Amino acid sequence: MHEPSGPPNHPALELAITAAELAGKRIASLFGQAFSVERKQVNGQSQGFVTQADLEAEQLIIQTIRSQFPDHQFLSEESHPELFKTGEHLWVLDPLDGTNNFAFGIPHFSVSLAYYSSGQPVCGVIHQPLTGENFVALKSGGAWLNGQRVSVNNQAALNETIAAFGFHYDRGEMMSRTLDSLHELFTNQIIGVRRFGSAALDLAWVGCGRFGCFFEFKLSPWDFAAGRLFVEEAGGRVTTSSGAPLPLTSSSLLASNGHLHQTLIDLLSRHWPPPG
Ligand code: IPD
Ligand code: CA
Ligand code: CA
Repeated sequence: MHEPSGPPNHPALELAITAAELAGKRIASLFGQAFSVERKQVNGQSQGFVTQADLEAEQLIIQTIRSQFPDHQFLSEESHPELFKTGEHLWVLDPLDGTNNFAFGIPHFSVSLAYYSSGQPVCGVIHQPLTGENFVALKSGGAWLNGQRVSVNNQAALNETIAAFGFHYDRGEMMSRTLDSLHELFTNQIIGVRRFGSAALDLAWVGCGRFGCFFEFKLSPWDFAAGRLFVEEAGGRVTTSSGAPLPLTSSSLLASNGHLHQTLIDLLSRHWPPPG
């Protein structure tokens, strides 16, 4: 029997794909054009940039979801990210993941949108506007890339795999710990490491088998809400850096094909910051 070409029908997932593609179209139309940019500061620390594209994409997504589900809540990077909502119907979105890439003309960024019901992920999409790739996941319904079912790779040793990682905006302890971890990976014969600048796409690429693993010491829920479901539905594992269940709050994150998970925890845990 042939695998159906796409995930099972689900109204929230269909709406998520529509909203992400709409936002992606607007982002792509602004890419390389003149657009307004501001530096973002949180607690006196630089958090990169926010552009017209981040703000317009966010509005498009929220309006699209609200037109169908007026009473649903949103946890979104650009509007009140300090409000960690836990509504029964919660959409968690990063309207533009990879803003620095976007702002510097680097064609690697995404829209990440997930729907959570009572704190549990139901479905998610990570859309890459320039390539048209749609990484779509539905709880118990699999992980799909442009209509094809995908799964994590089978690599079981570091010398068979490429790892992705991210730096948080921190320029202090977390940066040093990340660099120490990379050194450890190289010492243990990893084939290569990549820092591409969109955590949502890093997770999507673990799920479809391009990377064996991904880690970052501090991510926000909108960075990983869709990607964690994608990796899990693709047969992989996503936890905090110490192997604990991932909360829907700011957290460290380790995602892998499952085979590499314990090796990574054993190898890297001494470099990782304590939970919290
Ligand atoms: C960032 C990207 C980056 C990760 C940062 C995130 P943004 O998101 O996902 O890869 O390393 O921690 O903040 O700011 O481009 O939405
Ligand atoms: Ca982000
Ligand atoms: Ca963002």
